Amino acid sequence: MNPSQYTRIVLNERPQKFIDSNTFRQETVPFDLKPGQGQVLVKVTWLSLDPTMRGWLNDTRSYLPPVQIGETMRAGGLGTVIEVGPGSQLKESDTVFGMLGWREYAVVDEKAVRKIIVPPGSQELDFLGPLGITGMTAYFGLNDVGKLKAGETLVVSGAAGAVGSIVCQMGKKQGAKVVAIAGSDEKCQWLEKELGVDKAINYKSPTFRKDFIDAVGYLDVYFDNVGGDILNLALTRLNKGARIAFCGAISDYNSGADENIKGLTAYMNLISQRAKLEGFIVLDYAEKFPEAIKEVAGWLADGSLKRKFHVVHGLDKAPSALPMLFTGENIGKLVIHVSGPDAKL
Ligand SMILES: NC(=O)c1ccc[n+]([C@@H]2O[C@H](COP(=O)([O-])OP(=O)(O)OC[C@H]3O[C@@H](n4cnc5c(N)ncnc54)[C@H](OP(=O)(O)O)[C@@H]3O)[C@@H](O)[C@H]2O)c1
Repeated sequence: MNPSQYTRIVLNERPQKFIDSNTFRQETVPFDLKPGQGQVLVKVTWLSLDPTMRGWLNDTRSYLPPVQIGETMRAGGLGTVIEVGPGSQLKESDTVFGMLGWREYAVVDEKAVRKIIVPPGSQELDFLGPLGITGMTAYFGLNDVGKLKAGETLVVSGAAGAVGSIVCQMGKKQGAKVVAIAGSDEKCQWLEKELGVDKAINYKSPTFRKDFIDAVGYLDVYFDNVGGDILNLALTRLNKGARIAFCGAISDYNSGADENIKGLTAYMNLISQRAKLEGFIVLDYAEKFPEAIKEVAGWLADGSLKRKFHVVHGLDKAPSALPMLFTGENIGKLVIHVSGPDAKL
């Protein structure tokens, strides 16, 4: 039996800088959802919280259009098909991944969602982590953009986060020396003791610059999740032919339009070291995801890849949980549990 009403969370106003209590608005609306031709009705179970969602709130040109005022907040998520429209190949009780949004129920085109088949040794939630966008970003960013080789020195920023923690482990698997950068001593200990990086350094320490130079020497691949000053420092420590896989720049996602984002001053090292800084968007690799998922699922099954989820319970908590990504309160992948059984963590 469907409920008589359901909850959704919409964009209330565009934040100038940080997301605050006015940014989103919760609405309870009548349940008038009916899947049409080629559509399915999905009950949302889990939602992914991602730094890129801050960018979707800006009215600017990007890889996806901005979320409009009054529109349900866009978010990737998992859900269970509870009703199938005419002509749909999906079945009731199928699990799907797609841009389901901050709502309890969603009607979506079946072409806009992907059916999830959980491989042995994995669980559904892994499709928001290592087997989802997070893992694919680490995989293609490190392999296709970073082109990491055994014996090289890999530096990873945002290392205790969702993408970074997978990149670090892939780096060790591939025989690199891995130096991880994160924002607390607790995160650094986790990276060294649990994930096995060679050295983790806290970028908030007053000795960070010296710690970086001592630990890294010179680097071959920099997997950058944060941009800003740390990218500038990395640019001064490039080996000849170094590659920077420019994945994200979270240190600037909350910079207001009126604020001068500090330019890179050390960029000329790219010339002298014949190095390359390359941005990428993981969605461009979508056709290759199935093969990569197979490989990553194998690592989960044999225990050689660890994943950590930071679970916040309740759709209503999404607006206050999203800023955790910018204050660094999360370790591993930040997700919202909306409904259904809890995960085995
Ligand atoms: N290019 C693509 O296709 C693609 C796809 C997915 C994700 N991304 C990017 O990948 C990056 C990581 O995403 P994620 O989902 O894995 O998030 P995440 O790393 O799990 O969470 C964000 C982390 O960033 C760190 N951080 C926040 N503000 C910072 C600052 N000013 N300076 C340095 N670090 C800061 C925080 O950790 P600390 O405690 O260490 O500060 C926080 O935990 C983001 O930049 C995201 O936009 C790109």
